[in-house]
Amino acid sequence: MVTRRAAIGGGAAALVLAGFGYRAFDRGVFSSGAGVAFAPWEDWQGTASDGVRRPLHAGILAANPHDTQPWAFTAERDTITVIADRARNLGSFDPFRREMHLGLGCAVENIEIAASAFGYSADVTPKLGTLSLSPPDDPVVAAEIILTKADVKASPLFDFIPKRHTNRGAYKPDAIPGATLSAFSDLVAGTLVRVVFFSGHGPRDALGELMIRATEEIIADPQMSKDSARWFRTGRGDIAEHRDGVTMDTSGLSPLMRVMAKLAPDVDAATADQGWLTMTRDLHVGTAPVLGMILVRDRLDMEQAIAAGRAWQRLHLAATREGLAAQPINQPVEMIDRNAMMNRKDIYMKELVRLADAQGWQPTFTFRMGYAQNKALPSPRRPLSEVLQS
Ligand SMILES: Cc1cc2nc3c(=O)[nH]c(=O)nc-3n(C[C@H](O)[C@H](O)[C@H](O)COP(=O)(O)O)c2cc1C
Repeated sequence: MVTRRAAIGGGAAALVLAGFGYRAFDRGVFSSGAGVAFAPWEDWQGTASDGVRRPLHAGILAANPHDTQPWAFTAERDTITVIADRARNLGSFDPFRREMHLGLGCAVENIEIAASAFGYSADVTPKLGTLSLSPPDDPVVAAEIILTKADVKASPLFDFIPKRHTNRGAYKPDAIPGATLSAFSDLVAGTLVRVVFFSGHGPRDALGELMIRATEEIIADPQMSKDSARWFRTGRGDIAEHRDGVTMDTSGLSPLMRVMAKLAPDVDAATADQGWLTMTRDLHVGTAPVLGMILVRDRLDMEQAIAAGRAWQRLHLAATREGLAAQPINQPVEMIDRNAMMNRKDIYMKELVRLADAQGWQPTFTFRMGYAQNKALPSPRRPLSEVLQS
């Protein structure tokens, strides 16, 4: 027979469990990478009836700063226009919208790769000009892509478009073969862009120190901290509503820590910043066998920012194809821009150029690469219908 006491106890336990279950549900403990915000990762090829719009399904899966997805598109007759949706910015984190333009370049690269797989050759014309400080939020054209019917030519990178995810977790200590890294360098080298890799110690450690130092400076800057936090999404509803931003699932925590972090109350900005610094030092820099840098001739040149973004997307797809994980760690270049904005002395530009032994070039992007301990999960995406204007 069930005693009254046992019944009350059982009832309370059921309530606690139900409460736990609801919180787990509400915080997305059981729905990592699933739901409407992730549908574009499944429907990434569209159909032949989409015509010139078809490659845009792949375009919106591109890497982009803080998953702001700072893009909009028009597709009319044979032309796709890529528009910088400048209201979707990172404020003082990206005061010239340079990273925004790299993100647009990443989208352009996916569009071109997908277009050739669907039987189009793509002629890309980026908008020329120089990025300026704190520009207005109104949208501006960043590039035009003219598509012409051609033979189907699927790039070996095409299949990896929906498999590429930024991996912020621990990497294994295994070295990346030198031949793989030189093939990556050749893949992106051009007159406007080059990539440099750092393995072993010496310059690799020095670059890692700069990444950690820049993170310390960013979290000590209340405006940068605030502008970054605007794009953090916690909770299932938050992600489904916005379909953008950096989430707990993509934060680099191990699967167990992720569940714990989701169930715990949200932390304040200072605690989150401190956690980011610890992860940058111990996990991102601490476990990376290879760090790298993308350089251009002029980091504020719009065409070169697009070209650098295209290079990152291509590199990340090629890395994914080789079973490698990658993560941008762009704090040193973010500090170069922030120092320019504040009219302050900057050490990062000189140090990065010295480490890369690249006189006449400027860094625009720093990252890590390696073999990951855990698979990365997808980040949310707004549907194509929301960013396609005509
Ligand atoms: C220009 C640029 C800068 C970025 N900087 C960082 C960074 O400093 N740290 C980081 O963890 N991810 C960084 N990212 C990765 C984005 O946050 C990531 O691409 C975005 O959240 C979408 O996720 P996905 O790449 O997994 O699709 C950067 C991406 C781009 C294109």
